[in-house]
Amino acid sequence: MTVPAVDPRVPAVDPLVPVLTPRFPAGFLWGTATSAYQIEGAAAEDGRTPSIWDTFCRTPGKVFQGHTGDVAVDHYHRFREDVRLMAGLGLTAYRFSVSWPRVQPTGHGPAVQQGLDFYRRLAEELLTAGITPVATLYHWDLPQELEAAGGWPERATAERFADYATLAAEALGGLVGQWTTLNEPWCSAFLGYGSGVHAPGRTDPVAALRAAHHLNLGHGLAVQALRSTLPAGAQLSVSLNLHALRPLTPSDADREAVRRIDAVGNRVFLGPMLDGAYPEDLLADTAQLTDWSFVRPGDERTANQPLDWLGVNYYTPTVVSATAAGAEPARQDGHGGGTASPWPGADAVGFHQPPGERTAMGWAVDPSGLHDLLTGLTRRYPRLPMMVTENGAAYEDEVRADGTVDDPERAAYVHAHLAAVHRAVADGADVRGYFLWSLLDNFEWAYGYEKRFGLVHVDDRTQARTPKTSARWYGRVAGTGELHHPAGEG
Ligand code: FCB
Repeated sequence: MTVPAVDPRVPAVDPLVPVLTPRFPAGFLWGTATSAYQIEGAAAEDGRTPSIWDTFCRTPGKVFQGHTGDVAVDHYHRFREDVRLMAGLGLTAYRFSVSWPRVQPTGHGPAVQQGLDFYRRLAEELLTAGITPVATLYHWDLPQELEAAGGWPERATAERFADYATLAAEALGGLVGQWTTLNEPWCSAFLGYGSGVHAPGRTDPVAALRAAHHLNLGHGLAVQALRSTLPAGAQLSVSLNLHALRPLTPSDADREAVRRIDAVGNRVFLGPMLDGAYPEDLLADTAQLTDWSFVRPGDERTANQPLDWLGVNYYTPTVVSATAAGAEPARQDGHGGGTASPWPGADAVGFHQPPGERTAMGWAVDPSGLHDLLTGLTRRYPRLPMMVTENGAAYEDEVRADGTVDDPERAAYVHAHLAAVHRAVADGADVRGYFLWSLLDNFEWAYGYEKRFGLVHVDDRTQARTPKTSARWYGRVAGTGELHHPAGEG
């Protein structure tokens, strides 16, 4: 989304003026988010077959120190303990993903009962604890056999995805009422097939655009499959990592860079999914690469299914300029550099780190980007409810001698971003929930276990779970609906 160059930050607090604690609407969902490959482990148990991430992790040089999700944080065996942790904190919702290769190994044919049973037990456990389950169907773990057959650049993968959605809905529809089709299809398409820093690690700009289209189509087909399988009243959505864009300078050239990245970063999904058409400027920007003839008549209509809410994932803003001169050597694409571009048709654009505070990922801390995304979406789609389906931060947490973990930076980050959500609500955005990334320290893709995003610390050797001080603070916010300041929590 395009946002103004001027940064409308939260005004400084005058200590002489009493400050009201912001309060969120009753019924607002307070949760955490995770994904299957990042936490489950049990990679070869109960019929699960490899996904593209199992293969990628075994490709030398792709993942930090060759880490894998083979064991991850063993959530497959410890999910009851993890649900108890959430309940103990007072959280009211949980966003998890279903592993396609666990439920439908190879991506074809009937479901594996043991795989489905795991998610049934998880959903039952959540419901018993009074926690609303929110299931994501695809968080990047494509069955390896589907990649061998061409992966997301091929149309058949979108059709397979809809079949898998039906299997998941038949098994879990009585328990799960909130569904998300895809998590961050931008990463699947452009980091997976463009820059190659994510699985399957291909570096082909045309494959990336084809993947984006088949993810759009797969989303639409899956929504149709879910609507016809799930009980009435089920709520359907998709989670997008929309780029909160700012031009480096107000020059026309830098604003043109914003337009290009908005096209291939945001509107490539918003267009088909919410407007029913690819933006003309995206087709023009990429015309040297492809004529988009892989888009068949009717596909954009299929992608454009009514949604009950939109999931917005946000971590940091994206500052761009017309040329790469003076830009950061590593592209600010969220998950590492790589040498190939994840931006087909916009390779010349430069990416810049805003000055100021950064997280352990090197991502600038700037909550106003989240406010601007939510209010920008509201201007463009006035009747669209939203949930923040991911937001959070990695820091170099230290375990103290007494075993506790004090993480004031994380609490401050979340506090500032929740304040931005609250301001967006006050400005008219219909935001219904917030899911902190993440419940547990986990496998952070190409960064392996090096980066810790959890509210709960996980010991690499023993798998012991220890809520950090941010967890206690966040639980208090969830329990009261009031955005207390985290200062003094440790
Ligand atoms: C998002 C991913 C999530 C996690 C966070 C830090 O892009 O959806 O799995 O890696 O970033």
